[in-house]
Amino acid sequence: MSRLIVVSNRVPEAGAPSTGGLAVALRAALEAEGGIWMGWSGRTCAEDTTPGFSLRKTGAITWALSDLTRRDLAEYYQGFANGALWPLFHYRLGLTEFARSDSAGYYRVNRLFADRLKTLIQPDDLIWVHDYHLLPLGDELRRRGVGSRIGYFHHVPWPAPDVFLSLPGAARLLQAMTGYDLIGFQTPLDAQNFEACLERSLPLRRAGPDLVIGPRRLRVGVFPISIDTPGFARRAAQAAAEPALRRLKENLAGQRLLIGVDRLDYTKGIPERIGGFRRFLTDFPEHAGKVSFLQIAPRSRSEVGQYEVLEKEIATLAGQMAGEWGRLDWTPLRYVNRAFGQNVLAGLYRLADVALVTPLRDGMNLVAKEFVASQNPEDPGVLVLSRFAGAAEELAEGALVVNPYDQEAISHALSEALAMPQSERRRRHQAMMQMLEDHTVFDWCRSYLSALELRQSLPERMPA
Ligand code: G6P
Repeated sequence: MSRLIVVSNRVPEAGAPSTGGLAVALRAALEAEGGIWMGWSGRTCAEDTTPGFSLRKTGAITWALSDLTRRDLAEYYQGFANGALWPLFHYRLGLTEFARSDSAGYYRVNRLFADRLKTLIQPDDLIWVHDYHLLPLGDELRRRGVGSRIGYFHHVPWPAPDVFLSLPGAARLLQAMTGYDLIGFQTPLDAQNFEACLERSLPLRRAGPDLVIGPRRLRVGVFPISIDTPGFARRAAQAAAEPALRRLKENLAGQRLLIGVDRLDYTKGIPERIGGFRRFLTDFPEHAGKVSFLQIAPRSRSEVGQYEVLEKEIATLAGQMAGEWGRLDWTPLRYVNRAFGQNVLAGLYRLADVALVTPLRDGMNLVAKEFVASQNPEDPGVLVLSRFAGAAEELAEGALVVNPYDQEAISHALSEALAMPQSERRRRHQAMMQMLEDHTVFDWCRSYLSALELRQSLPERMPA
């Protein structure tokens, strides 16, 4: 296989062992043939200095890390990527804040990344760009004469055309995406929505499975991301000895555990979920004192205004819940902003009777998959899953699928999950586990890269 270059805004710590499935899989792919992982270093500098760029090698991987100026970060990351694109991609038009200065900063940083990457590229390289921070990077590389195969994977949803096209400059972004040879999505719906956006915005011709737009030719594909299934199952089976888990188990004193694990983000439906839990205690009061809901929600993107508002909203809801429902000997909701390592998480998933994975919109949601992989197959817990998570495409057979906006539906799913006989839990778990064993994150990585590798070097891939 050709040498691989991965580009993403966030880069795992260069020397540190990777924990997330995505990082583990990409690192394995990079180590196989030697490769480069490029992205933001996590550092900022003053406006009047040139951002540093460092190359560091660990084993077969070269880490190419670029600093950003404080203004770059504010405009590119906090502004356009997370203040405009993120809410838009998650159907939250009302939260989308658009400013021309942010969009200019976004393109500027993509140009900076392209300039820096250009110096490292060899003609045979496969370049794999990740996520919405870097939509125009392929185009910027083409403009600099890069003829290598360049792919892009979109980790988050792609919304319906009426939503996406409300973004000022939407057509320019779509045009820039024609710099890629292969664009991967999580679900068929995301791919359809993207093609519908292209059809409505650019002169497009179909040539077999390819889309031809002016001198450019690209292919759209569906590659649902997954997890390191056996790795997670192993971790979960070994986690019982973790002191933190032993203490939690003692503390629960026989209460049944419901769990939610999310970055503190408005797409995750945390207030609605807490509302669903309150509704459950009202509808089914026989469970009071017998269940405890652990919501883990590490803080995220706190510099972006909407995240600050959300953090206050959830803290208020959690406080109200404790005040109204708590007893001297019962804590109905445990709300924790700390992040936990993968071993502890795997153990928590295995300890839980029910996982509430109810995002309002999610590209895939790997917590759902990790929860399933962590279960004891003889006595598994139940997954309550939002129909608007990409994971629902694959896990609908085994999960209790709910509308995350419907608090009564969450309440009823909780009641059903807690009453579900072991035989049915096993049957559902088996169906989901089969899927996860057949499609791991390593398969995802392999299938995307072989599809990208098969793309021909075409004259159409000259700069438009
Ligand atoms: C989502 C995005 C990723 C992003 C991650 C964490 O999963 O798809 O691209 O890296 O959130 O967000 P952050 O802003 O902290 O990188």
